[in-house]
Amino acid sequence: MHLCRPTDPCEGVIVRNELCTAGKKAAGVVRHLEIDISGTPLEGRCLAGQSIGVLAPGLDAHGKPHKVRLYSLASPSLGEDGAGKVISTTVKRSIDEHWETHELFIGVCSNYLCNRKVGDKVRLSGPNGKRFVLPARFDEHEYLFVATGTGIAPFRGMVTELLKSGCQSRITLLMGTPYSTDLLYHEQFLKLQKEHANFRYITSVSRERNGEHDRLYVQDRLRTDREALLPLLCSPRTLIYICGLAGMELGIFQELARQLPPEALSGYLGVSPEVLAGVSTWQRSMINKEVRPTRRVFMEVYA
Ligand code: A2P
Repeated sequence: MHLCRPTDPCEGVIVRNELCTAGKKAAGVVRHLEIDISGTPLEGRCLAGQSIGVLAPGLDAHGKPHKVRLYSLASPSLGEDGAGKVISTTVKRSIDEHWETHELFIGVCSNYLCNRKVGDKVRLSGPNGKRFVLPARFDEHEYLFVATGTGIAPFRGMVTELLKSGCQSRITLLMGTPYSTDLLYHEQFLKLQKEHANFRYITSVSRERNGEHDRLYVQDRLRTDREALLPLLCSPRTLIYICGLAGMELGIFQELARQLPPEALSGYLGVSPEVLAGVSTWQRSMINKEVRPTRRVFMEVYA
């Protein structure tokens, strides 16, 4: 970690910048960026699941240089090129209104990145993160990945890495977005599913119907697809990775508590029988206290 500090960043070069939403007219603008890091200390040293820091040029409202912003890598550990020279990330343009003044708010770093052209240089730091990574021996585990929105980034890297390595374990990816046009890397995941019998890709769309089901959050899939997911979830070798909107982890834990037999649940969550009985009243503040994820659960959530 921290091979390049924000105070002494290295320079990468944009080699690709393209929309990665399923629909060209999606509600959110999300771009896939590839950055050549060859010759920098980061080359060959960025693991799937880690983040890199980006330093946007210019000054903030206080006249200070912009602080470093962290972006999850979307590339496998061997990079987009198989040699660790090209990393990638998934960037959603942050555009909103200020609550009080109702003036336009434009996120500094996400828009800086999305505006870059091929050949432009960007200042980078990192890599960051040591827990949200794949295990050392892929075949000793099975995998459930659960993402909302750009939380898919690390799983694009991880799923690609697992499947390319020849890992035969069961791997399921649950992906949630507001509209089907917002699904990210959708064609890539459909293709991987076609090519690998051990990989299953399941989407949930929160503001549209999902076939026979109404609107769904990712955790609702644990109920609607219970029969199909139960063998994976009941395996003592399964690891659960969660990445995306803060709050999703609570919903996932509640649904695991409702759907899993006690002996399977205890592999993921430490909860007393009394707390379990009140599952519908669980709050986020109970996580790591009354509701304790075990070492088989990996989380990266953000506001
Ligand atoms: P919604 O906004 O319809 O309530 P994005 O990052 O692209 O906005 O996507 C985030 C997705 O996660 C949306 O579909 C959003 O649904 C959904 N979402 C919001 N809150 C939760 C939650 N607590 N648990 C799971 N999914 C959530």
